[in-house]
Amino acid sequence: MTIRRRLWLSVMALLGFVLLGNGLVVLGVETRELHRSLVRESKTFALLAGPQVLRLFGEGAMRSEDPARTKERLSAIAEGLPSLVAFALVSDRGKILLKYPEDAVMPPVDLSRTGEEEGEQYRREGRSIELVTPLHGREGSPQLFFQLLVSEEPVKARLLGLAWVYTGSFLLLLAFGAFLASKIAKSILGPLVKLKSAALRIKEGDLSARAPEAGAGEISDLARAFNAMAREVESHRDKLEESNKALTRAYAELQAMQGELVSLERMAAVGRTAAAVSHEIDNPIGIILGTVQMMREELAVDSELYKDAELIEEECKRCRRIVRDLLDLARPGAGKCTPVDLPSVAGLVLRGLSHHPSFRRIEFRSRFPDDLPPVFADVDGVKQVLLNLLLNAAKAMEGEGTVELEARAGEGFVRLAILDSGPGIPEENLEKIFEPFFTTAGKGDGSGLGLSVSRRIVEEQGGRLWAGNRPERGGAFYLELPTEC
Ligand SMILES: Nc1ncnc2c1ncn2[C@@H]1O[C@H](COP(=O)(O)OP(=O)(O)OP(=O)(O)O)[C@@H](O)[C@H]1O
Ligand SMILES: [Mg+2]
Repeated sequence: MTIRRRLWLSVMALLGFVLLGNGLVVLGVETRELHRSLVRESKTFALLAGPQVLRLFGEGAMRSEDPARTKERLSAIAEGLPSLVAFALVSDRGKILLKYPEDAVMPPVDLSRTGEEEGEQYRREGRSIELVTPLHGREGSPQLFFQLLVSEEPVKARLLGLAWVYTGSFLLLLAFGAFLASKIAKSILGPLVKLKSAALRIKEGDLSARAPEAGAGEISDLARAFNAMAREVESHRDKLEESNKALTRAYAELQAMQGELVSLERMAAVGRTAAAVSHEIDNPIGIILGTVQMMREELAVDSELYKDAELIEEECKRCRRIVRDLLDLARPGAGKCTPVDLPSVAGLVLRGLSHHPSFRRIEFRSRFPDDLPPVFADVDGVKQVLLNLLLNAAKAMEGEGTVELEARAGEGFVRLAILDSGPGIPEENLEKIFEPFFTTAGKGDGSGLGLSVSRRIVEEQGGRLWAGNRPERGGAFYLELPTEC
């Protein structure tokens, strides 16, 4: 059960208890008071009627008095008392001398008790109250008795009316009490509910949540303390987030540095290996190649052995290419820095390739601005880079498609874009393809050295080489070379 409901119920129970208790007390007092007033009425009757009946029936009664007239007067007095049901005049021996109304059934009077309570006697008789009051003669001793039957109905009717009024006011007060209790509960618990919802929001991760601090007392003190705590937690969270970001940045930098180191280490290792083995491998390969070419000349063109010799020759050539690439990679220092006219160098390379079988179904489109400045580089290096890039494009397009060469001058450099219509390069490989030995070519189709050698040559010239993808489809390589040494 919520505190609000408990508070409400407690206030209501207290109010109900007080109102009910109060109502019962009031009704009890009122009942007694009504009974007393009935008795007072009866006494008044006895007081008013006493002299009349004593004159008629008492000691030395004036017999001249007409009993019928006396009776008439008595009934006139009795009619003035609305709750008087019947009365009888009883002698000191218990004999009924007079009765009103005539047919009233009066209970027998117990005269032995009439001395008590100033000579009056009450008794409950069915729905009425019986009152016996003595009438004293001249000597002061009781001579006659008035037996009165007073109806309780008017008393009951009044009490019932009173009970209804009381019940109505009780319900009204209860409703008002309920309204007041809910208002009080709301004013006390409202800030607590807001505090609770702020705490829940914080639990769900919204550390900016705050509780209203309005008002005075312990609850607003609690809200202030809660807000101070939330501020503290939020500032710690912010600091933690910042440290986390700094750590992530540092980690990324570290990873990049590690990558560079690994790449440098690999290049150095490749260089050392290449330098060491190139001579040892190049010479035997040269001998094998020469021998195989001689063998081939002596064999019949359609024989099996001729085809095998051709295969050996091809593989030997590939080995030599790899060795040459390794040597290029290992070669220290840049070449000569001379002015190079990119359009004419590109034209030369394209002309050379046009006879190559892999380029027969490839269309070249070149766009070089007329005022393109020359770049400063080693011309052989530029040729080799262009060749590598175009061979890669042809391989990616599987010998069929379009290659566009597009140059534009920037501030202190010329950028040449080589765009093909192949499948493009997966995003995650855009940097990896420049690592030595990274290749997606099948076995025997590539060594994965072309791009690493090319980047090395370009960087030696003070330029940049990077890869991307065309928005439509196809790979894009960008070669940037300086326009001064
Ligand atoms: N134009 C291109 N389109 C799509 N992928 C390319 C393109 N150029 C290069 N690549 C990818 O980059 C990889 C590395 O190229 P790289 O030239 O270094 O080696 P390679 O061509 O496989 O072998 P080789 O040493 O004979 O050149 C290729 O295997 C290929 O997956
Ligand atoms: Mg290649």
